[in-house]
Amino acid sequence: MIPDSFKQDLLNRVDIVDVVSRYVQLKKGGANYVGLCPFHNEKTPSFSVSPAKQFYHCFGCGAHGNAIGFLMAYSALGYVDAVKELASAAGMQVPESRPPTPQEAARKERETDLYALMEKAMDFYRGELKKSPRAIEYLKGRGLTGEVAARFRMGYAPDDWQGLKAPFPEYEDKALVEAGLVIENEGKRYDRFRDRVMFPIFSARGAVIGFGGRVMGDGEPKYLNSPETPLFQKGQELYGLVQAREAISVARRVLVVEGYMDVVALAQFGVSYAVATLGTATTANHVVKLKRLSEEIVFCFDGDAAGRKAAWRALEVSIPLVEDKKPIRFLFLPEADDPDTFVRREGKDAFEALLRQAPTLSEFLVAELRSQVNLASPEGRNLFLANAKPHVQRVTAPGLRLQLVKELAPLGHVTQEEAEELFELRRGQPSYRRAGIPRALTPSKPLPIEVQLLRWVLVSPKGAADVDLSLMDGGLPETEVLRELLNLATEHPPEQLTQPFLLEKFRGSPYEPILVTAQERIVEFNAREDLAEQEIGMCMLNLRMQRTNDEIELLKKAVTADPRDKPKQLLLAAKLRDLTQMKEMKSKGEPWVIGMESARTGATSKLGLVRGEFPP
Ligand code: UTP
Ligand code: MN
Repeated sequence: MIPDSFKQDLLNRVDIVDVVSRYVQLKKGGANYVGLCPFHNEKTPSFSVSPAKQFYHCFGCGAHGNAIGFLMAYSALGYVDAVKELASAAGMQVPESRPPTPQEAARKERETDLYALMEKAMDFYRGELKKSPRAIEYLKGRGLTGEVAARFRMGYAPDDWQGLKAPFPEYEDKALVEAGLVIENEGKRYDRFRDRVMFPIFSARGAVIGFGGRVMGDGEPKYLNSPETPLFQKGQELYGLVQAREAISVARRVLVVEGYMDVVALAQFGVSYAVATLGTATTANHVVKLKRLSEEIVFCFDGDAAGRKAAWRALEVSIPLVEDKKPIRFLFLPEADDPDTFVRREGKDAFEALLRQAPTLSEFLVAELRSQVNLASPEGRNLFLANAKPHVQRVTAPGLRLQLVKELAPLGHVTQEEAEELFELRRGQPSYRRAGIPRALTPSKPLPIEVQLLRWVLVSPKGAADVDLSLMDGGLPETEVLRELLNLATEHPPEQLTQPFLLEKFRGSPYEPILVTAQERIVEFNAREDLAEQEIGMCMLNLRMQRTNDEIELLKKAVTADPRDKPKQLLLAAKLRDLTQMKEMKSKGEPWVIGMESARTGATSKLGLVRGEFPP
């Protein structure tokens, strides 16, 4: 609801270096300021703040953003609150913007109501637990102390069709149904959770957003969960994250398990860095979130067939997201065990010993691939390599990919070079993450010109005027981002198109990750603004050459098919002349070695790039 013009004004007025230095000790290093990253544990500074770009970026954990984003991440403030806080520090008054529409106001109010409702329900269930010896006995029987039950805010839903009438005398309130606490059926209303031990589910910011309720003893379903509500989306949330956060940052590791009870039991026995997916398969969203919090993710699955299948799903989701410095591992427990039973019987040390030996993602991948074929026959080895190919191609971490290739090649009786050829990999090729965006290109292709163009236009929005979208590949998300940038360039003068401003414009858009990746790269390399316009020109020339080449290929085919087609022949000759001319132009702009200052060390290094190329 805050007007764009105000945000822009605000971001122009505040200096991110000031904002960050209120919380982090910064030292000048080259063009940037560096310090210890507040978002992960580190001893040597990899957190860099660029006054020129008004952007922060951590080379260790990947955290990045503008001043607003920093405050949001650092103080766990909501967007509006972060803007307000920044504004008040800068002595600016957030304008009372247009009043929210009645629908917006109603939704906001309803959400606030729902949070309050959930909180009240949790307090009620907690109170009921104290009054129910049976439920207390059940939890004790599962090895839990009152302390751990309190830490996870566990409760008990009484064996009563309308137990919630006690805390909610206005039981007819629609909001109770909307919050998933009450079920309405043929005009009758009753509590969703009855005679169950209750596990409240918290959002990352600590609000109760749902519940899981377990029957005591046998009964179906074993766990009843809140339905999806305006507050609760299963694929997004992780059970136990709030309680585990501190331990995760100390252990620098997060353990992902399958069940509520596993998280609680592990915490009871001293393994406090565990979280659980909520009865759903692991999503990319989960992995991205966890990667931000820790240096190592360990998935822990039951030792049975279902557990292996769940692990394989998690592997597939994780492959493109692994980073060289952030390994992902898979812990398989003995058949018939889950983390709860294992840690209760064997204790913390035995569990952590198992954890230390857990296979890495690539070890698990290779083992699975091996188990699918007979490596003794040429056909088996061929199939092995063919099965491996799509997985290897999806690995974006360059170091890990190299290791994988070296591991797989001898098993398939081929050399490393042959394996790379079979997998259609190129040496030293760029890798970049595009979370959430359909893959328009595989990592085996070089950085497309469109991607380079986007980066240079970000470096110098003035250059947008020279970009011709009609030449660009419409299938690439970068083209869409450029299209948006060109639109913005017609509405705003170039000096307004700062990185923080653009980030605000793309916040929440499906293209946000593309923009962020591009911004990270230009910050990382301190791309020089004075080179940008020349580089954009060179990119456009390269694009024109590419398109002309495509046209020439088509015309050649047409002319071969019908040699009497005079107009096509003339056109072909003209295009060939164009191409020659463009080649000459290109050769005149001699190969250009771009010296880029490393944002991390402040040292200038020659990256040995030729003109029109951006470091991957
Ligand atoms: P498990 O059946 O492995 O549960 O399901 P658990 O945590 O080991 O539970 P205990 O030890 O029997 O008490 C794993 C997770 O799958 C979801 C829950 O999130 C559960 O924690 N689940 C399972 C359901 O949502 N509903 C069910 O009926 C069963
Ligand atoms: Mn269990």
